[in-house]
Amino acid sequence: MASTQDAPGAHGSAKVLVASNRGPVSYQVGDDGSLTSRRGGGGVVSGLSAIGPDAGALWVCSALSDGDREAVRRGIVGAGPEAPPQRGGGGRRAGEDGVLMLDIPADVHADAYNGIANSVLWFVHHMLYQTPLEPVFDAEFRRQWASYEAYNRAFAEALAGRAAPGAAVLVQDYHLTLVPGMLRELRPDLRIGHFSHTPWAPPEYFRMLPDDIAEQVLRGMLGADRLGFLTRRWADAFEACCARFADGLGDTRIGVHGLGADADFLRERSHRTDVTERMAALRDEIGSAPDGTARRTIVRVDRTELSKNIVRGLLSYRQLLDDHPEWRERVVHVAFAYPSRQDLAVYRDYTAEVQRLADELNSQYGTPDWTPVVLHVKDDFARSLAAYRLADVALVNPIRDGMNLVAKEMPLVSDEGCALVLSREAGAHEELGEDAITVNPYDVVGTARALHEALSVGPEERAERSKRLAAAATALPPAQWFLDQLHALEEQPGPSA
Ligand code: F6P
Repeated sequence: MASTQDAPGAHGSAKVLVASNRGPVSYQVGDDGSLTSRRGGGGVVSGLSAIGPDAGALWVCSALSDGDREAVRRGIVGAGPEAPPQRGGGGRRAGEDGVLMLDIPADVHADAYNGIANSVLWFVHHMLYQTPLEPVFDAEFRRQWASYEAYNRAFAEALAGRAAPGAAVLVQDYHLTLVPGMLRELRPDLRIGHFSHTPWAPPEYFRMLPDDIAEQVLRGMLGADRLGFLTRRWADAFEACCARFADGLGDTRIGVHGLGADADFLRERSHRTDVTERMAALRDEIGSAPDGTARRTIVRVDRTELSKNIVRGLLSYRQLLDDHPEWRERVVHVAFAYPSRQDLAVYRDYTAEVQRLADELNSQYGTPDWTPVVLHVKDDFARSLAAYRLADVALVNPIRDGMNLVAKEMPLVSDEGCALVLSREAGAHEELGEDAITVNPYDVVGTARALHEALSVGPEERAERSKRLAAAATALPPAQWFLDQLHALEEQPGPSA
């Protein structure tokens, strides 16, 4: 992909740039000092593969771990936000595999990522605060906000230095809300897009932010030519915030792009040997009902994320076992809750509560032959796919979620088709609601009722519904999702390059 060695003039040579906090690759340092890398997936990765290696693409991301920082130091993934070396000049090699990792000082990154992005903006957009005690916008918040500005500026400067004249820049998510405005000032010639992978808060909740901060976030975003959202609901909420707090949208256009599941990849990947091996192991854990038939499964797969509502999912399952004792010993709740954001105490506490409640359920209801909750907390993609294939019921009950791809993936991958219990607050509900069993995520009794209904759906209806869910879930595959945004940005009337 793009090298910055041949950058013409003061600008870079990259024609398509992506900016995100987490990049497509991460590094670990081994005991012997060697570096190993791991590549991630997702919509943007698929999109960049679709435009091909000659498209002049550069992905700007942040170093997140010691391994990443070491990779930057060794010149593997770029040097930093300084201007690119001129033709024939010295300097460290940067971005030669299409990734430029920014070595932002660890304390600045921690303030921006943990302090502001994940503890403030994430909480605002997912409406997660327990408001009698939080948020508190004090002097410490202001100090962290200055780091968030510095971190956004590092991205804006790196992009400005690497982008070819008139290039398209696709900025991702709530970590980088200030980048479009900052970049617009540095490089008015660029086409700038921003995509929100989260919900957007309604004005009444958004206004919790201090007025100047709320305005700065909106103005930062409005520096883009085009803003993308996962659903119409989140786009409308953003527009409503702009109408209330920022004199409207100005020249910025809004687009809705509902990221879909990657059917080809998932179908192929979920039939590999490692997945079938894990299916056998899971079947052993699940066991058989007293009459010898296979037990039914209620499956959930999430990061252990506050907004995913795993605790109320467990409470709903307990309510199901109380309200419908006929399901005891005939069903297992397979819950995969993978570690996330463990730097934050509230996430560590939540993780502990998930574990405690699962243990409590197992000791209260379990029998020598039946473990009611099979909880796994170690991330294992092949095992997640194995659980998808075995699912009778998919439980997706977030408090609020930008999209939720699990809701789209499970009906697609499940061997027999699964019934989907889906929160009305998940973005995916806009596309899947018709064939799902809808729940209010706060209503534990209602969710227990929905689980009973889902377990009771006959095999034919279940297969039919699952087929329709899979069709809706794959309407916009990841590569197309990315290309649609890129083309809309390139085609939009904008500044001349
Ligand atoms: O939903 C927003 C998002 O950035 C996703 O794109 C991603 O899956 C998730 O949050 C994970 O966040 P983090 O990078 O903090 O683990």
